[in-house]
Amino acid sequence: MIIVVLAFFAYLNFVYSPLIYELKDEYKNFTKTTIPIGLDSLSAKECGECHVRIYEEWQTSMHAKAYTNPYFQAYLKKDDYHYSCYYCHTQLEDQIEFKIVGFIDDDPNRPILDLNENFDRGLRDEGVTCATCHVANGMIYGPYGDADAPHPVEFAPKFRTTAVCEKCHEVPQSKFMFYKSNPCGTVDEYNNGPYKAKGITCQKCHMPSQLKTLTRSSKIFRQVGEHTFKGGHSKEMIKKALLIDVKKLGEKFELTVMNNGAGHAFPTGDPDRYVNIITKFYDYEGNILQQELETFDRTILYYPIIIEFSDNRLGPLVEITYEYSGKIINDRAVRATVEIEYHILSDRAHKMLVEKYGLPEDTEKVIKIAPQTFAL
Ligand code: HEC
Ligand code: HEC
Ligand code: HEC
Ligand code: HEC
Ligand code: HEC
Repeated sequence: MIIVVLAFFAYLNFVYSPLIYELKDEYKNFTKTTIPIGLDSLSAKECGECHVRIYEEWQTSMHAKAYTNPYFQAYLKKDDYHYSCYYCHTQLEDQIEFKIVGFIDDDPNRPILDLNENFDRGLRDEGVTCATCHVANGMIYGPYGDADAPHPVEFAPKFRTTAVCEKCHEVPQSKFMFYKSNPCGTVDEYNNGPYKAKGITCQKCHMPSQLKTLTRSSKIFRQVGEHTFKGGHSKEMIKKALLIDVKKLGEKFELTVMNNGAGHAFPTGDPDRYVNIITKFYDYEGNILQQELETFDRTILYYPIIIEFSDNRLGPLVEITYEYSGKIINDRAVRATVEIEYHILSDRAHKMLVEKYGLPEDTEKVIKIAPQTFAL
């Protein structure tokens, strides 16, 4: 009996975690917000008065929805409004309703909170906003530093490297979490892959640049990065990620899928993500003879402890081939179609969020890419 009690105590204190990632020290340090001279606020709306195009691009991004996103709201509720969630989704001090003034028994999961008098609801709703990446100590940091701007500017080398993305696009696992790789490990996947060595940064794919001016009235043309940050929610990016082929080889059919467009695993990020590849074989009259399903996903048990059983997502530039056969398709298949379905989360997780945590039922959960056709 005593052993069972001790074991349970040890489990609660050392093994069990309310989070799916390790709680880093820095997650309690929100960025101090001093408004740069010449500006009235830190709001993206104000930046947008001059940087019109960049503002409009950013508005369409998931960064702009990092707080209002219904999935974030539902999971935030499920995770009992843990302060660490705000570190990446609303990182500026004044985007947060409270201040952390200490911890009960030094336990990082039991913060003592106080009201933040400077809390700005409008700014909070902007999620990962312009100031999150560009403002610190009352200064606007950028990739040039030579701008003639109505606000102070300074050059920061991080805008040309992956450093500007790193602190948010990676969460580590702790000693008692048994993932095969970090739970949301985009940066790790990138660092261990071929693109880093070639010097192709996140921005190269996620912020493609064009010769433009920074504001409507500016005269200087510069290479300006697109601020849409398109990723897993974009059909265009999902299409770009995969190179697909189906061909007949003797008695067999071969489906080849290659991740030739993503600089990390496909899919990456949130371990909820998974992708279905559906291949249909048709006869001359257009009847479906056979249908095949392949899935790229991670299988993780979260309770009572986190253990990952499998991860078959496609690494960058990795190719995989599947073979299909059968008498009927061999004799009669003349054409195949391949569909990609990018799932934000499983139907089960979606149902749980709807039933228990207020997720609106019609929140988009799968992005379907129009089928590609292959003559056989
Ligand atoms: C009143 C107009 C105006 C407002 C408001 C404004 N900017 Fe600017 N900004 C400019 C101009 C003009 C330039 C310089 C253009 C050039 O040199 O090509 C500039 C330059 C910049 C640069 C480039 C700096 C460099 O040297 O690398 C960044 C980054 C930037 N602004 C971000 C912001 C952000 C973020 C906000 C809101 C917090 C903001 N700006 C608000 C007009 C404005
Ligand atoms: C302050 C934290 C933070 C920084 C810095 C940051 N991101 Fe993000 N990013 C997020 C969060 C949070 C989301 C998820 C928002 C959501 O889906 O609700 C996200 C989502 C994305 C997405 C997914 C879009 C989609 O369609 O699913 C891409 C792509 C992305 N970021 C790229 C970048 C790149 C490239 C950089 C560096 C230039 C960067 N991010 C820097 C926090 C950050
Ligand atoms: C997730 C971080 C992030 C956010 C949010 C963000 N930027 Fe940027 N911004 C960057 C990066 C990275 C670059 C450098 C892009 C490149 O390499 O071309 C940049 C470049 C710029 C530049 C210089 C032109 C260029 O593209 O090189 C301006 C001006 C600018 N941003 C303004 C803004 C404004 C205004 C907003 C909000 C509407 C905003 N940024 C939001 C990361 C961010
Ligand atoms: C060679 C181009 C390329 C590079 C380099 C690249 N990405 Fe991506 N990224 C893509 C493509 C294509 C997708 C869409 C397919 C997918 O989700 O994997 C994507 C998807 C994403 C997503 C969406 C995940 C989600 O949950 O919706 C995030 C976040 C992201 N990238 C962040 C990054 C970061 C951070 C870096 C740098 C460390 C980076 N990417 C480097 C091409 C690239
Ligand atoms: C270290 C930074 C970081 C922390 C801490 C963090 N997130 Fe995120 N979150 C991200 C990034 C980056 C993305 C988008 C890319 C991806 O899928 O990894 C994201 C994506 C999400 C998504 C998916 C959004 C969508 O459109 O499907 C949800 C939900 C979410 N986070 C909830 C949370 C909750 C709840 C917490 C706190 C328990 C939290 N996050 C803590 C960085 C973070």
